[in-house]
Parts: sequence; C-alpha cells; structure tokens
Amino acid sequence: FYGAVVTPVDASTWKALPRCLFCVGSTGNIDWMLEYIQENKLHEALSQKGYSLDDVVILQDGEFVIPGFIDTHTHAPQYPNLGRGGQYQLLDWLKNVTFPKESQFEDKDFAQEVYSSVVRRSLDCGTTTSCYYATIHLEATKVLADIVNRLGQRAFIGKCNMDCKEENPDYYTEEDAQTSLQETSALISYIRTLSPISSHASIGTAPEPLLQAILTPRFAISCTSELLKGISDLADKYDSKGPYSSDPRMRIQTHISENRGEIQRTRELFPEAKSYTDVYDRHGILRETTILAHAVHLTDDEIRMVKERNAGISHCPTSNFNLCSGVAPIGKYLDKGIKVGLGTDVSGGFAVSMLNAIQHASIASKIIAMNAVAPGNSAKQRFAGTQFSIQTLFYLATLGGAEVCNLGHRIGSFSPGKSFDALWVSVLDAKGSTGVWGKEATSDGAIDVRTQKLEENLERFLFCGDDRNILRVYVQGCLVGGQSFEKKD
Ligand code: GUN
Ligand code: FE
Repeated sequence: FYGAVVTPVDASTWKALPRCLFCVGSTGNIDWMLEYIQENKLHEALSQKGYSLDDVVILQDGEFVIPGFIDTHTHAPQYPNLGRGGQYQLLDWLKNVTFPKESQFEDKDFAQEVYSSVVRRSLDCGTTTSCYYATIHLEATKVLADIVNRLGQRAFIGKCNMDCKEENPDYYTEEDAQTSLQETSALISYIRTLSPISSHASIGTAPEPLLQAILTPRFAISCTSELLKGISDLADKYDSKGPYSSDPRMRIQTHISENRGEIQRTRELFPEAKSYTDVYDRHGILRETTILAHAVHLTDDEIRMVKERNAGISHCPTSNFNLCSGVAPIGKYLDKGIKVGLGTDVSGGFAVSMLNAIQHASIASKIIAMNAVAPGNSAKQRFAGTQFSIQTLFYLATLGGAEVCNLGHRIGSFSPGKSFDALWVSVLDAKGSTGVWGKEATSDGAIDVRTQKLEENLERFLFCGDDRNILRVYVQGCLVGGQSFEKKD
C-alpha cells in the first residue's frame, strides 16, 4: 500500500503519515513500513524491496488507512432492541426490555437471523475486533461463534453466566452454578476447535486465533458466590499465561459500578465485601485479563485495586448517557496508567458504530472539564479534568482497546510484525453523507500542509463520518467488509 496512514502511538500522540509505503505479507501481518516516501522515489524504494509499481495499491487524495476499531464491550442479542428503552435506568431496563429479548435466544433460528445481521453491520462500521456478550444459551452462543468465524471478525465471545435465582427472572436464569460452568467449558472447547474458514487459511500462522471464548459472569448481582468462584477456577484452568503461546490467555468480561441502584443491590447481596470491586477481587476474577465495563462510580480505593490487578476498563459513554448512569472519570484512569478502551454497549448504547462511542467519549470528557475546579495541567494530571484531544479519542478506540484485550502486541496500531486489522477510509465521495472535503495539496505541497490536511480529514471522519466513508475493512490482512466489499452471505 502507498498513501496516507494514521496510527496511534500512545494516549496523547499519533503518527500522521501522508506518504507511507508498507507491505502486508501473506500471513496478514505487516512485513515492513517506510514512513515517508516521496512520489518520485516510490519506484526506487519498491525496487529496493524487490517489488514493482504493479504490486502496489495506491490510495487517492482524501483516502487514508487507520487501524480498525476495537469494541471492548457489546451485547449481540440486544441488537433488535437498538434505540428502545432509553426511558429506563439500568435495573428497570434489564427487567423490562433486555431480559425479555435475551430470553428469545433459546430459539436458534432467531439467533441465526439476529447474529448474522449484527456481525455484518459491526464489520461494515469498522469494528475489526469485538468483545461480545451472548445470552445464557449455549447453542445460540455457538451460532454467534460460527457466524463471527465465517465473516472473519476478530472477536471474544462469551456465554452469559447467570445463576442467581433470587435476582434473575424465572424465565431467564441458569439451572445452577455447576450447569453454568459445564456449559461454559463446552463453549470454550467448541470455539477452540472451530477451524478457520478457507479464505483465512493463512491466519493459521498468527500467534493468536481470531476468535476466542471469554468468561462472562454478567455482573455480580446475577451470579452466586459459588459461580463467581467457579469462573475464577476456569480462568486458571484455561489461561496459558504467555501472550505468544498458541493457547491464548483466558479473558474475563463483566460489568462494574455502572449505576447507583446496581451498586446498592450489589452491596446488599455481598455484605462481606468492602466494595463492588472487592466482590470480584475476593472471588478471584479481578485480573490482568479482565475487562470491566462502565466503571462510572468507582471509589479511590476501588481505582487502586483495579490498577493493582492491572484489569482494563471499557468506557461506554453512549450507554452511560442513554441509561442515565453517569459520566465515568476516564481522564483520572488514564493518569493512573489504567488500561482504557471504548465500548458501544449495544443496546444500553443506541449505536453499533464506534464512531458514536468516540463522539460521546469526547462529550463525556467535556462535561467533566466544564465541572472541573482547576484544569488538570500538572505533569501528574495530564488527562483528568481535561477535554480529550482527538489523539486521545483515536487512541481509546484503537490501541487503548487493544491493551484492554491484552492484544496490544498484535493489533491497535501499525508496525512491522503486527496484524493488518485496518480501515480504508474515504472522505471524498461518501454518497452525500459528509460532503466533499479535503482535496489535498498538490503533489509538491509541503509535507506539513499534507500532514495537517490528513489530520483534519481524520478528525472530520471521526466526528461527522459514518459507515459510508469506510470503503474497505481488513482483519488479519483479509478483506472482510466495507462499502467496496462484495457480500457473499
Ligand atoms: N449490567 C448487567 N447486564 C447489563 C447489560 O446487558 N447492559 C448494561 N449496560 N449493563 C448491564
Ligand atoms: Fe453492557
């Protein structure tokens, strides 16, 4: 590929490369990357690498490549509820809107229909890695795994663990802790034996499978102590501990401290724990491999525990606004060095696209900044109390999410050896969605003008673009979605 590339470096910086030349190998990894090659040196640079101009895909002005978005928290079965239920807060929303819908996934045909459309849409919106919650149903969760595997998205898929008879509705609860754990093991085995589809045969050499199971205790309220402990044991059993091993780490995902009513109920159900976070910690599920969704109302002591255990946080601002949960202090978490990514939390959040999560993360940071006593501008407080820069928002949706998934060595940014999980974006012709922006300076334009234009185009895409701007979506080097992708399913 030759053209404009933007890739995050850390939570406050990116590299905007208007004339980058890079090569994706047959394994889907980036082989090499030359950050700046002038047009008139292209031929020479290629021949030094043993290639000719015919081997190169050249991006037009107004097109650029960025790492794919990483949705660190979403519920696939809630897709049919998108846009419903925003009049409720969490516990009433679960009871009135969400559990009734999820219970329908006992029907495998219904699961097939819903899951096919949500995964297709997620890919076309530019989500190359997704952390999915399914339902309590093993068979329907296998259906989701089959679909994700066929469509080629990188994903973590979990069957919800919910055995607490007192708290879950009669029509939507598991038999008991042992049944829940057995079915979870069955899902892990199923996903580990799923073979890659033929067009992805080359992925066999990638150190981590694209599709992995994830342990999914829904939240403390929905689980008994016996089940939480059993999940910790499963995490020990299946966790390889080595990031490059062919048997990957065993991730866990759950919700934490989202809503005040939820926190109060959690404290009542687990009176021996000193906090919501301590419920998870004393059951052994607060780990480096744990993804905690929301974390809106954590106390300082809980924040310390999350940092100590090196768990990651999935910031779900669309959902936090929609269910009136609160505004999570993400800047504070970043200052403490806690891993943070973004999640859509469909359908607590009302949008599948990570672009909406980025926009709402920006607004959330501005609400905090407006209410901050003094802006955080000391060396220790770089993010707390500030409105996030576009670089920070971009990081959260890409490399930050990768760190939360313990996949920072594979995805989230571009460098030799990493997977090519990427979006090819155009801001020129978006069928009227965004107007015509950003014809770049002519070929002899100064480098800083082109860089500035590229940064502006990315910013405008993030704030007023949509899936019509995403021409091609790649996962591990394979074309799997976007406007120019011919759908076979
Ligand atoms: N807490 C427990 N279950 C859920 C869910 O499905 N969505 C959200 N947003 N919070 C939850
Ligand atoms: Fe959620």
